[in-house]
Amino acid sequence: MGLIRDKLHIMNDHYDVPEFVRTATHYAYRRVVKDPSESLRIPFAIKKFESGYSKINPKTREKLLDFAFGFEYFGVSIKPGQNRQEISQLLEVLERDPPRRLLEVGTYLGGTLFLFANVAAKDAHIISLDLPHGVNRMGYPEVRGTLFKRFATGGQKMDLIQIDSHTRPALDAVEKALAGSKLDFLFIDGDHTSEGVRKDFEMYSPLVRKGGIIAFHDITWDHVRDYWHSARKGYRYEELLAGNSPGIGVMFV
Ligand SMILES: C[S@@+](CC[C@H](N)C(=O)[O-])C[C@H]1O[C@@H](n2cnc3c(N)ncnc32)[C@H](O)[C@@H]1O
Repeated sequence: MGLIRDKLHIMNDHYDVPEFVRTATHYAYRRVVKDPSESLRIPFAIKKFESGYSKINPKTREKLLDFAFGFEYFGVSIKPGQNRQEISQLLEVLERDPPRRLLEVGTYLGGTLFLFANVAAKDAHIISLDLPHGVNRMGYPEVRGTLFKRFATGGQKMDLIQIDSHTRPALDAVEKALAGSKLDFLFIDGDHTSEGVRKDFEMYSPLVRKGGIIAFHDITWDHVRDYWHSARKGYRYEELLAGNSPGIGVMFV
């Protein structure tokens, strides 16, 4: 984006550009590049996403990771907030028994949602829980959901719920979406306070079936670490750690 801005300045300063071209270019820059709600960029980002995704062949884990970490359209990115090696290891765990029902608490740019959809069963029901845009300067613009919906392919179904995960309406919405079914996989990556992680675990872990998987992101962070250490007691677990990175804790429940 800085490059585009610089080019506009060069155009202003050094070339004899007709006024209407100058005005139109600046209008496009302000509306499209600096469009804070992403509403103008998302339709084009979806086109780029779909064309790029269709070219991934075969859809191996490494190629999907390359795509998720590299995709960008004028600031619209789906870069996972993850260490690549750790998330790859988590995907490997999930590939052993592709989840049919999964809940992600904390979606942000959609990187992990995209990757989970790709390792989930062909008829998987994928649920994402995040804040509405702007709450505590977090959440994501609603329009971004139209891109996230494209992550569900074939017979998959995607529900995007934008409510504070710690509230009764959020739990009600997840239970309604599940309609009595249990989750195979729960990913906790929302509010990273110890209280927030505890609430997410206590509210949503009862929805996970016996034999299912619960993963916590950022288990090396102080707040998450304390709760992770108490939550994992009595369960078989794995810690996916790549050097000094945030770490993913995986519990087999
Ligand atoms: C670290 S980001 C998630 C990154 C994503 N899982 C990935 O790896 O690409 C954390 C997300 O959690 C969301 N979040 C924080 N507190 C939340 C809450 N109480 N309820 C729902 N979502 C929350 C934020 O809005 C943010 O989008």
